[in-house]
Amino acid sequence: MNINFSVEETVKKRYSVRNYKEQAIESDQRKAIEAFIDSLENPFGPNVAFHTLAIQTGKNAQKLGTYGVIKGASHYIGSTITLEPMALEALGYEFEALVLYLTDLGLGSCWLGGTFDRQSFSNAMKLETGEIFPIIAPFGYAADHQHFKEKAMRILVKADHRKEWQQLFFADDFQSPLSAATAGDLAFALEMVRLGPSASNKQPWRILLKDGSCHFYEDKAPGYSKAFSYDIQRVDMGIAAAHFDFAVKERKIDGHFVTSAQPEIDLPKHLEYVFSWIRD
Ligand SMILES: Cc1cc2nc3c(=O)[nH]c(=O)nc-3n(C[C@H](O)[C@H](O)[C@H](O)COP(=O)(O)O)c2cc1C
Repeated sequence: MNINFSVEETVKKRYSVRNYKEQAIESDQRKAIEAFIDSLENPFGPNVAFHTLAIQTGKNAQKLGTYGVIKGASHYIGSTITLEPMALEALGYEFEALVLYLTDLGLGSCWLGGTFDRQSFSNAMKLETGEIFPIIAPFGYAADHQHFKEKAMRILVKADHRKEWQQLFFADDFQSPLSAATAGDLAFALEMVRLGPSASNKQPWRILLKDGSCHFYEDKAPGYSKAFSYDIQRVDMGIAAAHFDFAVKERKIDGHFVTSAQPEIDLPKHLEYVFSWIRD
């Protein structure tokens, strides 16, 4: 997998596009996207499968439900995993790499974890049973304006807003907010995490910097995942890992991810340790 685009530019340019031009993507671009998908990998191990779907306008479009959230899209990509430790994070990481790649190509996309009819898309993509199907995304050229429901959703989840550093990043313990100055050369990677997308824009990532390494925790919203058989906020944690990893690699800062380096400190309520990035 080759991230050969600017991390800051694509992270800042990306936003959820829910209204699309009815314009198919050209075959050269489609081939480039397929090749990028084939190259996707993640630092956690589990396998993530991707399934693309091109819809001929007016044909099966109506049968594929997004509850009016997505309009005009003729390309979708779905991903499946077997539910094993770190599989949701692996999916988040790989899917976000693809979303940033699409952004760099000038294409819009939108993560969908809730507002899509799983059954109709499973059938259209000819998915096998036994795997879970947590995420799908439409992608294509953004329409010139947002549709009514799209505007309403953005207001509801405060989509243009992100939490501040002192709510997200900590030094040595969760009582001490981390400043950009203390974060030093990791400040850029943390800022890229902060700007990322998340389910309902809940931004569950909390990061503790200790002895030069970053420990990632999930601030689990009580009851939020009860509609699913899995914790959808783990996908957000994978997105955080992707933004962090692409940013440190761009800055040539060496490190690696592990899931077994939980520091021995007191945790605030609802916080769960997920993984660490250990500086080499
Ligand atoms: C894991 C995940 C699941 C999401 N599920 C949905 C969804 O079901 N429907 C939807 O309209 N947006 C969904 N979103 C998009 C978020 O609402 C959006 O990323 C967030 O509000 C921030 O807005 P932005 O992407 O424009 O920056 C999801 C995002 C993520 C990361």
